[in-house]
Amino acid sequence: MQDIIIAISGLSKTYATGFTALKNVNLGIRRGEIFALLGPNGAGKTTLIGVVCGTVNPSSGTVTVGGHDNVTDFRAAREMIGLVPQELTTDAFESVWATVCFSRGLFGKPKNPAYIEKILRSLSLWEKRNDKIMTLSGGMKRRVLIAKALSHEPQILFLDEPTAGVDVELRKGMWQVVRALRASGVTIILTTHYIEEAEDMADRIGVISNGEIILVEEKKELMHKLGKKQLTLQLQEKLAALPAGLFGGAQLSLSPDGDELTYTYDTQADRTGITRLLASLTEAGIRFKDLSTKQSSLEEIFVGLVHQDRNGAAK
Ligand SMILES: Nc1ncnc2c1ncn2[C@@H]1O[C@H](COP(=O)(O)OP(=O)(O)O)[C@@H](O)[C@H]1O
Ligand SMILES: [Mg+2]
Repeated sequence: MQDIIIAISGLSKTYATGFTALKNVNLGIRRGEIFALLGPNGAGKTTLIGVVCGTVNPSSGTVTVGGHDNVTDFRAAREMIGLVPQELTTDAFESVWATVCFSRGLFGKPKNPAYIEKILRSLSLWEKRNDKIMTLSGGMKRRVLIAKALSHEPQILFLDEPTAGVDVELRKGMWQVVRALRASGVTIILTTHYIEEAEDMADRIGVISNGEIILVEEKKELMHKLGKKQLTLQLQEKLAALPAGLFGGAQLSLSPDGDELTYTYDTQADRTGITRLLASLTEAGIRFKDLSTKQSSLEEIFVGLVHQDRNGAAK
């Protein structure tokens, strides 16, 4: 059995405005994984993080973190979590060192300068430790937020849209940091509305849309499915059955009423086999009046999400 570090069960959230931002979310985060929660703006990602971290009250459902209920055993649950919020909020006049040490203190942990030094070094902030935060670049400020989130030695790190508005170079640096954290045993949940980001980083991907988790899958599995396409041929004459010896084998299927042939192929393969299929059909005397191709349904989901995202308001 998988070791589940966060268990979310039957979670719903309706805000005071009457808007339902989460609908019956069930999700298990595995210890040690990088989980990407992918969805367009307004899908409910930040709300879900808020409920897990205890800043948003759920309307129904439960969350346990490391076995601790995040309502009845809030402190123990919260202590396991580091949160890097979506908005850049840091005390501009404090030094990097002071603000990170202060964050640790909030969790009642005893001072540990050696540990703070370690995280500042790992985030390339050590040279800047005495600088005021307002003098730092945007990318460094974001790294200060990560250092703050890690200051109390959490086992779980939430990164809410960590690369929104961060340029490509910094994004790469951020991913190195995240991978190094995972290697050190930290479980990471990141939210994003970039498919590529989820593809690059995640072990597993969950897609959220309109407050519902519509899909959770291993990234490898997802990529495999994303590569599939279907070619549909409308036949001039109905077939009672697929003729023997036709090219395509298991990739080929006939519709129940015999007037459509569907060929499923891998867009990432060197050869799709389409040319051979068409030659084979001609040889067998099967003629068609029309053809169309279609992405697998999963890709439709993604295209739909991206489309929505493009049309949605930027936040
Ligand atoms: N405090 C709130 N009161 C009412 N509606 C809210 C509140 N916070 C968020 N929402 C709404 O809930 C939906 C989900 O928001 P959010 O969780 O921030 O989505 P995401 O992080 O995926 O962009 C949005 O439609 C948003 O407007
Ligand atoms: Mg958000």
